Amino acid sequence: MTAVAGKRIVLGVSGGIAAYKAVEVCRLLVDDGAHVIPVLTKGATRFVGRTTFDALASEPVRMSLFDDDDPIPHTTLGQTADCIVVAPATARVIGAYAAGISSDLLTATLIATRAPVVVCPAMHTEMWEHPAVAHNIATLAARGVHVVGPESGRLAGGDEGAGRLSPPAEIVAAVARVLAPDRSAQDMAGPDRSAGDMAGPDRSAQDMAGLSVVVTAGGTREPIDPVRYIGNRSSGKQGYAFAEEAAGRGADVTVVTTVDRPAPPGATVVRVDTAEEMAAATTRAAAAADLVVMAAAVADFRPVEAADAKLKKRDGVPEIRLEPTPDILATLGAAKPEGQILVGFAAETCDVAANAATKLRGKGADYIVANDVTADNAGFVHDTNEVLVLACDGRIHPIGLRSKRQVAHAVLNLVVADRNADDRVDSQEKQ
Ligand code: CTP
Repeated sequence: MTAVAGKRIVLGVSGGIAAYKAVEVCRLLVDDGAHVIPVLTKGATRFVGRTTFDALASEPVRMSLFDDDDPIPHTTLGQTADCIVVAPATARVIGAYAAGISSDLLTATLIATRAPVVVCPAMHTEMWEHPAVAHNIATLAARGVHVVGPESGRLAGGDEGAGRLSPPAEIVAAVARVLAPDRSAQDMAGPDRSAGDMAGPDRSAQDMAGLSVVVTAGGTREPIDPVRYIGNRSSGKQGYAFAEEAAGRGADVTVVTTVDRPAPPGATVVRVDTAEEMAAATTRAAAAADLVVMAAAVADFRPVEAADAKLKKRDGVPEIRLEPTPDILATLGAAKPEGQILVGFAAETCDVAANAATKLRGKGADYIVANDVTADNAGFVHDTNEVLVLACDGRIHPIGLRSKRQVAHAVLNLVVADRNADDRVDSQEKQ
């Protein structure tokens, strides 16, 4: 039995070519024991017939705010739903929902609910990347709406790009995760109630006992000569916050760090300086790790040669040739042992969600914790942070401004909850 069994799920279907895949979402949810009520927009019926949903769902299709026995169908649907999933969600529905405009039964139901909402966008790449759509998605994510996908791949018309609806099985798995009983209360809260706060209850329980965790922290230093180096502004505070949080929850922690700072009691500390040293130490430690958190700010370039002696002013301005460093996260992502969870970071100065999504895919991470390092009180040096967590199944979780320890707490809540949910699915499949 999965977490959707026995739940009332409103399946919103809007008008895009991917509407035909919503039929499969409906069937999978019903197969898993959910009570599915399809709500179609007028546009959806241009792509898929309502008879198909009538035959597969638990209740007949609803479409109208007015031609229903129930005089207020949107309130009834919104109030009684355990979850609303919109698949596919078009740019129009996303825009209306973000703006609070209720022009049809689906958008009215979305606004009338306090249940968790899962939105699965599907549209052409140009539309998905339009700043208005990106802004609306960020608005919804910041309100606690779970955004799943889209994926990149072949689109209607034959072109390739981002905008494809996530596979139905992934959508259903995301709904199950949202409904899983051990989700923290705040994470489960419906849209717009908690601004996506995932801090949740105090998990002082040793819920990471037995897990081996590797955390990298600080900025690497790439030597130019014995006294100078190329570095960055990273303080290592966020990495140490992860190490402290994981150790506090019972994990066996190794910190690979460039920073001289006391590590949590019991943690193993590996002190490094350069990207090369960090790559070697992290790869070694990660071989047997359950979770790797790449919080370090690794230099992307290093001098091809470091001078043996201090470069003297009298010899003129040196020309320093640079070469790329190894990408540690990408290397780990490419050779990830089964079951290992890889958390990367993305330090951005613009287009945070889009750049982070590219890193998530490109580096083979399971999660990317992304932040705008130019934002007030967030990023390098500060004691506080404000991040978006992108999961590899397309979910985006915003974590509002709070201490770096609380950010680590919220991210680890998510990772541990997902891991437990996956373990449950594995053991059900084996039975
Ligand atoms: N990272 C890494 N090895 C590198 C560079 C980065 O392992 N040589 C990791 C970081 O620890 C972080 C993630 O990759 O978890 C993203 O780092 P970031 O600096 O945001 O991105 P870059 O890959 O450097 O890309 P860009 O400079 O284009 O933003």
